[in-house]
Amino acid sequence: MSESKKVRVAVNGYGVIGKRVAAAVAQQDDMTVAGVSDVVTDWRAHMARRNGFRLFGATDEHAGHMRAAGLDVDGTLGDLLGETDVVVDCTPKRVAAKNVDVYRRLDIKFILQGGETHAATGHSFVAESNYGSAVDRDATRVVSCNTTSIVRTLTALKRAGLLQRARGTLLRRATDPWESHEGGIMNTLVPEPGIPSHQGPDAQSVDPELDVVTMAVKVPQTLAHLHYWSVQMTRQASKEEVLEAFTTSSRIALIRHSEGLVALNSVKELMADRGRPHADLYEVALWADMLRVQADELFYAYMVDNQAIVIPDTIDAIRALSGTVTNATDSIVKTNRALGIGPSLV
Ligand SMILES: NC(=O)c1ccc[n+]([C@@H]2O[C@H](COP(=O)([O-])OP(=O)(O)OC[C@H]3O[C@@H](n4cnc5c(N)ncnc54)[C@H](O)[C@@H]3O)[C@@H](O)[C@H]2O)c1
Repeated sequence: MSESKKVRVAVNGYGVIGKRVAAAVAQQDDMTVAGVSDVVTDWRAHMARRNGFRLFGATDEHAGHMRAAGLDVDGTLGDLLGETDVVVDCTPKRVAAKNVDVYRRLDIKFILQGGETHAATGHSFVAESNYGSAVDRDATRVVSCNTTSIVRTLTALKRAGLLQRARGTLLRRATDPWESHEGGIMNTLVPEPGIPSHQGPDAQSVDPELDVVTMAVKVPQTLAHLHYWSVQMTRQASKEEVLEAFTTSSRIALIRHSEGLVALNSVKELMADRGRPHADLYEVALWADMLRVQADELFYAYMVDNQAIVIPDTIDAIRALSGTVTNATDSIVKTNRALGIGPSLV
């Protein structure tokens, strides 16, 4: 595709999610990174430049600080938006919501991340569930890491006609690895104060038909989340039938203890050995051998790499909003190919 036809994507906020989004956009043949914008002046901003991205300060003041720190800066977020078709806002929770007015005023399509509310865009996105309803919209929100995993897995069961209701317990990582020096719990477990935890209702913002309740507890590690699910199926089914249903999703990877994949760290090590950037696991990694069916009840567990799982869906959301690909499967296949997402992790 010629450069002039590629969708120009701005990434506002080059942190945990933003740097992965920018790298993933750069790997697609139908979109290009117009630039990244941030407020920091330290190694993080230097990495944006080193990785070949044009750098912009959130404001004149931030751009000035960046220049004073020796960074090569192309201007402000305002300048960047002037050369942008879709902006992916990856600034911290509640910061992005404040940028919405700017994007709307400039009539630029925008994507928010899971830290923001559904109301901020009026649409919440998981590619395998509701790509079609985002096509040509002005904005959407790619839901959080946990919610993305819930919608992917329950959509696969729903498609197979197996899903009646689902109840899940989420063991949530305490903080992101690079911020571990600043916070995070140690030597304790912290239950979320209310049931349901917010992820169940959040999944319903993508698919209101899902009968889902979640409970969550924060655990003292940083690698990934671990989910345990108990599902009431619509009828008795075999284990093979359930596994078949999960394999209809290209973003659910079945893993096995017998392969040596016995814990979160072994799966992360596998991703590192595969050469995935940051050892990222884009898929829901679901233990096939642990999964148990008991008449019409289903039990299973899976791992969610919170830093990575929303990246492919964000790429699909860019295509949906820009209207360049109107069919969900076409976009998903294209994204998967570019990011190396295939049928098996091993
Ligand atoms: N970290 C995760 O595991 C994760 C997973 C899924 C979704 N999310 C969501 O993604 C969004 C971003 O989270 P994150 O973890 O990447 O945050 P982060 O703190 O790692 O990164 C945010 C980046 O935005 C920059 N920033 C702060 N204020 C800014 C401003 N006014 N203008 C421009 N840049 C600014 C920061 O310097 C930083 O580089 C949030 O909505 C979060 O809820 C995070």
